[in-house]
Amino acid sequence: MSPHRSLSASAPAADMPRRDLRGDVSAQRLLNSLRQASSNCRECPLGERATQTVFGEGAPRAPLMLVGEQPGDREDLEGHPFVGPAGTLLGRALKQLDWPREALYVTNAVKHFKYELRGPRRMHKTPAQREAAACLHWLESEIEAVQPQAIVALGAVAARSLLGRPVPVLRERGHWLPRSDDIPVLVTLHPAALLRGDRAHFEEAFEAWLVDLGRATRYLREKQAGLVARAARAGRSA
Ligand code: URA
Repeated sequence: MSPHRSLSASAPAADMPRRDLRGDVSAQRLLNSLRQASSNCRECPLGERATQTVFGEGAPRAPLMLVGEQPGDREDLEGHPFVGPAGTLLGRALKQLDWPREALYVTNAVKHFKYELRGPRRMHKTPAQREAAACLHWLESEIEAVQPQAIVALGAVAARSLLGRPVPVLRERGHWLPRSDDIPVLVTLHPAALLRGDRAHFEEAFEAWLVDLGRATRYLREKQAGLVARAARAGRSA
């Protein structure tokens, strides 16, 4: 049995801590107004060329937030994050980890698709740092609204936006890095990096990626166990 299996089998997302309904509703309202406000964003040039803003989606008070780089071609056309090939691979990982996507909040560091034309094809271009910086306040507002207990940074652009400094992803993958708001960030590869990698070693790379991601399950489970133990202690002493 692979290492992530033993984690996932005992830690379905149903075990992930839930917040109160009132909190969910107000977070959802806030996210709705952020989504609306971001739909006309022209704070960097990317909005002019993209089809639409692709804002984050998912549970309004998800315990775990996943942050990618920017929407790709499919996401730009459909208006949802991670629905193209990288999203399919992410979906495969989420399934193996027993993380229903609707229990998470999934977003990107940059909300518009940056591309260059090669013939009729729109080819992904990595966003410039100034573009990621212009978009940062949307991401930070999403974090404030959702208040996740942990965040997964998928790739270097996400890690840099979340941590405010360049992060060597290959060196830091699988590690938790602190943010100033105390929400820990688990750094790992972007799914597109696996898709671009050596086909002969794909399954091996995928397994290693699951091990990275699985650390978030363990973190949330331990945090939940700590909260339950603290509540029980408080109950006993009341
Ligand atoms: N890559 C990303 O980083 N985000 C998406 O939404 C799709 C592809």
